[in-house]
Amino acid sequence: MTFTAYNHVPLPFFMYGTAWKKEATTQLVQLAVASGFTAIDTANQIIHYDEALVGEALLALAQKGIKRESLFLQTKFTPAGGQDHRTPYDASENITTQVGQSFDSSLKHLHTNYVDSYVLHGPYSRMGLGRDDWEVWAALEGIYRSGQAKMIGVSNVNAAQLKLLCEKAAVKPMVVQNRCYAVLGWDQEVREICRANRIVYQGFSLLTANQQILGHPGIWAIAKRLGTSPLQVIFRFAMQIGILPLTGTSNERHMKEDLSVINMELSPEETRLIETIAV
Ligand SMILES: NC(=O)c1ccc[n+]([C@@H]2O[C@H](COP(=O)([O-])OP(=O)(O)OC[C@H]3O[C@@H](n4cnc5c(N)ncnc54)[C@H](OP(=O)(O)O)[C@@H]3O)[C@@H](O)[C@H]2O)c1
Repeated sequence: MTFTAYNHVPLPFFMYGTAWKKEATTQLVQLAVASGFTAIDTANQIIHYDEALVGEALLALAQKGIKRESLFLQTKFTPAGGQDHRTPYDASENITTQVGQSFDSSLKHLHTNYVDSYVLHGPYSRMGLGRDDWEVWAALEGIYRSGQAKMIGVSNVNAAQLKLLCEKAAVKPMVVQNRCYAVLGWDQEVREICRANRIVYQGFSLLTANQQILGHPGIWAIAKRLGTSPLQVIFRFAMQIGILPLTGTSNERHMKEDLSVINMELSPEETRLIETIAV
């Protein structure tokens, strides 16, 4: 199973997230790839991620014969408001320059000359899109046109902002990465826009943001039928409704369990039950 955006670039069906791994990042990325993950998500934002240590893992993997082209690498530009004193660019420069500097440093960290996906970590504006948002998006479009990113996308975006981007941007996003709450119909409004524009929707915090539904008897019944746990049911459900899930597990057994959902199948009734469980 792969997910494909409107520009025909395929993404693997599951993505390994590297947030909050700190010094364990190098070892965990290698473990994730050995377990079967081929897509890695990071960001040039030292508060939450260590992109350089992802790069160390990639060097070690290359030595073991795992080629760069066999992996899908996604990283992000994080605006200055989401950085600390270790901002990976000169924040006194204009936004276009900041993006250029951050992207160059990402390529250095990851020991590559291209990324598969480059994502804006979040718009500058809370509502709508302002001048800074259009400037940052134009900078991402420039990177996409240069061929150094095969896809560009946006994270932490609301439906109104995504609609605006789709209507007015020269290059529409190919990827959206959002926190996915069951109580919001699993981010239904944003997913609808993605579906209409053939944008790949990536969901994070599928487990951590939805603890309250993991104990639901309907989900337990599906888990029992499949001989699995409610957590795997959620990941498989996500895939079946078109969400490319992220997991940030630090446990080898959990990595394998998460990937194994590719072999499960929920019935349309089961999918419908979970889709509407918390609405
Ligand atoms: N764009 C953004 O702003 C943003 C924000 C947050 C996250 N992200 C991305 O999304 C990635 C994932 O974040 P997340 O919030 O979804 O996940 P996460 O916070 O890393 O948490 C996953 C949790 O689920 C548990 N888990 C996973 N598989 C399991 C299994 N099979 N059995 C039992 N427990 C399991 C993990 O525990 P164990 O470690 O014990 O398995 C962990 O506690 C991040 O690493 C990052 O790349 C992006």
